[in-house]
Amino acid sequence: MNLFEQQQQEFTARHIGPNESETKAMLKAIGVASVDALIDKTVPASIRLQQPLQTTGPVSEFQYLQELKETAAMNKVFKSYIGQGYYNTIVPSVILRTVFENPGWYTQYTPYQAEIAQGRLESLLNFQTMVSDLTGLPIANASLLDEGTAAAEAMAMFFNHKNKDHDQITAPKFFVDENIFAQTKDILVTRAAPLHIELVFGDYKTASLDESFFGVIVQYPNSNGAVEDYRQFIDKAHAVNAQVIMATDLLALTLLTPPGELGADAAVGSAQRLGVPMGFGGPHAAFFATKDEFKRNIPGRIIGVSIDAQGNRCLRMALQTREQHIRREKATSNICTAQALLANMSAMYAVYHGAAGLKNIAKRISLLALTLDEELNEMGFSNVNEYYFDTLKVQVTDAEAIRKIAEAREINFYYFDRNHIGIALDETTSQSDVLDILHVFASSQNSDTAVANFDTDSLLENIPAALTRTSGFLTHPVFNSRHSETEMLRYIKSLENKDLSLNTSMISLGSCTMKLNAATQLIPVSWPEFSSIHPFAPSYQWKGYQQIVTELEKWLCNITGFAATSLQPNSGAQGEYAGLLTIRAYHADRNEAHRNVILIPISAHGTNPASAVMAGFKVVVTKCDDAGNIDVADLKANAEKYAASLAGLMVTYPSTHGVFEESIREICSIIHNNGGLVYMDGANMNAQVGLTSPGNIGADVCHLNLHKTFAIPHGGGGPGMGPICVNEKLAPYLPSHSYAVNGELSAVSEVSGLTTHRSPLTTAVSAAPYGSASILLISYAYIKLLGPEGLRKSTAYAILNANYMKARLENDYKILYSGKNGSCAHEFIVDLRPFKQSAGIEAEDVAKRLMDYNFHAPTLSFPVAGTIMIEPTESEDKAELDRFCDALLNIRKEIKAIEEGKSDKTDNPLKHAPHTQFVICSNEWNHSYSRENAAFPLDYVRQHKFWPSISRVNNTYGDRNLICTCEPVESYMEVAESQPQ
Ligand SMILES: Cc1ncc(COP(=O)(O)O)c(C=O)c1O
Repeated sequence: MNLFEQQQQEFTARHIGPNESETKAMLKAIGVASVDALIDKTVPASIRLQQPLQTTGPVSEFQYLQELKETAAMNKVFKSYIGQGYYNTIVPSVILRTVFENPGWYTQYTPYQAEIAQGRLESLLNFQTMVSDLTGLPIANASLLDEGTAAAEAMAMFFNHKNKDHDQITAPKFFVDENIFAQTKDILVTRAAPLHIELVFGDYKTASLDESFFGVIVQYPNSNGAVEDYRQFIDKAHAVNAQVIMATDLLALTLLTPPGELGADAAVGSAQRLGVPMGFGGPHAAFFATKDEFKRNIPGRIIGVSIDAQGNRCLRMALQTREQHIRREKATSNICTAQALLANMSAMYAVYHGAAGLKNIAKRISLLALTLDEELNEMGFSNVNEYYFDTLKVQVTDAEAIRKIAEAREINFYYFDRNHIGIALDETTSQSDVLDILHVFASSQNSDTAVANFDTDSLLENIPAALTRTSGFLTHPVFNSRHSETEMLRYIKSLENKDLSLNTSMISLGSCTMKLNAATQLIPVSWPEFSSIHPFAPSYQWKGYQQIVTELEKWLCNITGFAATSLQPNSGAQGEYAGLLTIRAYHADRNEAHRNVILIPISAHGTNPASAVMAGFKVVVTKCDDAGNIDVADLKANAEKYAASLAGLMVTYPSTHGVFEESIREICSIIHNNGGLVYMDGANMNAQVGLTSPGNIGADVCHLNLHKTFAIPHGGGGPGMGPICVNEKLAPYLPSHSYAVNGELSAVSEVSGLTTHRSPLTTAVSAAPYGSASILLISYAYIKLLGPEGLRKSTAYAILNANYMKARLENDYKILYSGKNGSCAHEFIVDLRPFKQSAGIEAEDVAKRLMDYNFHAPTLSFPVAGTIMIEPTESEDKAELDRFCDALLNIRKEIKAIEEGKSDKTDNPLKHAPHTQFVICSNEWNHSYSRENAAFPLDYVRQHKFWPSISRVNNTYGDRNLICTCEPVESYMEVAESQPQ
């Protein structure tokens, strides 16, 4: 290899941890001659790919960024007044630099381990408080995928609530006001059909409701921009026991009477305009707030207050047992990965601006909208919205003519039809922007003069008196004390310091693939050419995105061995749902709509049955054998038993037990022979890329977690992307979108292109045509930087790293499940159950003790209770793998000491783990083991100690005393005082 070829391949060596000499040592420890020999031993020959991948690259990081600049230049950033749920916003630089672009925040995992996650938990509690305050509803979650999904979740929640105690659906109808966003309607249609919800579209003013309606949805302000008073309609809905959902805008709610005060039962929407760039559709956090009585039905994650082992106030994810992992086929929602990082950004935006700052932003926008309205009116253009916040719907004679003038000046409006133009102003709109808009309208009248009288003190007559907000919000000190940049910087840093992320140590979460998220992959996400594009901008303005989307779709097809890809789903679980909908549509199109049974092995992730239920399927759970493999006989028996109604199988490959099952081809044939299709959960693709593929094993459809295998960071629980890839049979049924042109997923605001052409069987699963489009750049970069050989090598090293750790641990721990030849795939399960009997030690104790050794616990009790599942990924070098193994081996010694009676059964470093600085430095120390042993159990910990910020969290206390917003400051003290120290 010459010097120049070497340069092109240098990223591979930066991405993959072990170097050549480390590799040799690791192979020796495993007892195999080469990496290839290990792969031959691990991946069944029958499913190995015969061809190298056909992706492009490798390229050097420098070259990649140079080339991407050219692609970026193909996107044209016009000034957007399109609105419809997506607005320009100013991301405060301190938040951009120290949250969005900071690995200390974006490489965090979902805060299941509360003791090393207090920072993001606090920020997410701020998010919930902000949402709760602004919507006027007592309980909010953190967070959901997008506004449309949040609306669909609210609809499903009320549907289940209303019909849960009945054998039959008694109230199947849901009223949808015609003036909600088109993309939200689209998602409601998708979600309603499989659940047998009847959607009734109409004008809320004339809607006739009866007891057969379980709920209604209206938008506030609506898709025209109009602010309507829904009080009477809410009373009308409540009179027939229907629940009311208001889709709304948090910024508008700083000026408008909040939904809770109007009587709404739930409020949903997007927090995008609170400091998160449009990014051609995402990622952004959606919000969901409701009344107290529905708190146990809320989808997604809720952060709550609790106490730790010292009685100190702390935070953790509340009601974890209501998560889909536990409820499986009884689940009503499959939300897992959501948009935590973006919720944190919006929460920080509220901390940065405070109540007064937010209100001032809203007033400025509204004042400019009012001025624009008045000046347009002077020119003879009338705004049809009597009351509005930021959006005008202007009546014109020829929208097409105005569009031409506007676009020539690089301005985008929203074109409702030939006679109505939408103009949505936002935080970035200036007085000169308003003049530019007026010039466009003046030009359409052949005039080149436009004037505006900016009366900065005028009353906001556009906000109706009856709907003017009088109640306060964001009164908690957190929103009122950090408005200087110095304070803000220190606040963000103080929270970051409490959290363990990938910039501290490896996070070996099985099934989660916490690999390197390279800076070069992430940097372009902030470039304005990508971050400032509206998802419904005319397609000629996003040719750069088009190129990326087209290439990425092609590469993902090649990697999965499939024919077509949809980049729409915003998470793995949403991919499952979208993929299952393609199966549903396929059967329906062949007059086999009765096929409604999905087989799911017991080892599956909880989202699998949850998604199947959401897609309208009946779940039949099949067994696994003692070796952790699918019990083929049981699967066959069930496939035959349900042959007449079999829709398909959901299977994870390699299995959630970390094994490449030899029988996978046979399993797929059994399903096909009985009329079903095979859905492959791609969470474990990191063990497949370049070695085998879902298409090759015989599956029909799969999703890919781009936030696992393809390097999108986890962001503390999102963003994520879960594209689906399908074979030719299923290609016609991929999700479409209300802004698709001629059936193609290319968003539009062209007057002529507004009609929708799509398969009647497929509607959207996400609010934006390409989901969280801006983070597709990360996976795009990942594939291109590594090239086909780098991708294959990464997979091989993921398997090598796992097998090396297994080899180091297997003499001291029982490793559950391995393949025919004794090797594991890219992850393996360590059985901790025996220690309960021998030493009273549970898996949780080991997980918490690992924190004292600077490590995040591996996946706990999934897929087998009482175990940990370790997935090191290819990105960790031997030294880090060794540190982790040393930690686990030392913990084994600590357990042995208990087993041998040398250490006390209850007073030992495992039971009291994790140990905080406060505990270690306290004047009191009543334990039978030393402080040094507690805090610095191994030498490497001395070099760099990460301190958990709280002692072990008490989950039950928090669930019994559910508090999910920031409490008054005094209450923090009360909790501490009332608890034993
Ligand atoms: C096997 C498996 N399937 C599905 C999912 C759901 O993916 P997401 O969290 O992106 O919704 C996960 C998440 O960890 C998983 O491990």
